[in-house]
Amino acid sequence: MIIVCITGASGSILGIRLIEELLQKNKQIACIVSDNAWPVIQYELQTDAHTIKDILLQRSIHNILLQHLNEYTPDDFFTPVASGSNSFEAAVVIPASMKSIAAIAYGYADNLIHRVCDIALKEKRALIVVPRETPMSGIHLHNLHTLALYGATVVMPVPAFYNFPKTIDDVINFIVGRVLDLLHIEHNLYGRWNDEYTAR
Ligand SMILES: Cc1cc2nc3c(=O)[nH]c(=O)nc-3n(C[C@H](O)[C@H](O)[C@H](O)COP(=O)(O)O)c2cc1C
Repeated sequence: MIIVCITGASGSILGIRLIEELLQKNKQIACIVSDNAWPVIQYELQTDAHTIKDILLQRSIHNILLQHLNEYTPDDFFTPVASGSNSFEAAVVIPASMKSIAAIAYGYADNLIHRVCDIALKEKRALIVVPRETPMSGIHLHNLHTLALYGATVVMPVPAFYNFPKTIDDVINFIVGRVLDLLHIEHNLYGRWNDEYTAR
């Protein structure tokens, strides 16, 4: 099982696209959306949906794939994923706000997102964060550095330009593809650097 957390940073489409790709690969997903993420999701995706399942249905995902998706509220500390005794492969925070980055970096586990990240770090499981802010203050960079030191992988949501992205979807697919690479999941979301590019 992979835990996908969406926080209130801009770029909620990154989390939605990651969930779509994982479901297409028949991965079991636990999804946690922070309270502050919902208004951002609704604004950026121009939707009034209140669940990730509804958003995926609006985006025409096949209904049957949704059986692998469980959604949890950030105040639900009684759910199995809130305990280190229950295993998961990885936790991904995408996009990650600077507030959530600070909470995770300092072990301040006052919601389920911060708690599962705390568990990932203490149980030595994969933790991937995709922080979105620019420019970054020294505090932001310090907190990301702290997370990296303690075992998290920081994936900045920045595009590559060597594969000539033409659309926003190309950029989104590149970032989501890099996260899938870290999860060791095969995909064709972006063209890898190869002879095709160097021959130009
Ligand atoms: C439209 C919108 C965009 C935002 N974008 C960002 C952002 O890119 N990065 C960030 O750190 N916070 C951003 N915020 C602020 C966060 O939502 C806010 O700090 C919140 O407390 C984060 O809480 P959470 O981490 O629990 O979701 C944005 C807020 C709004 C309304």
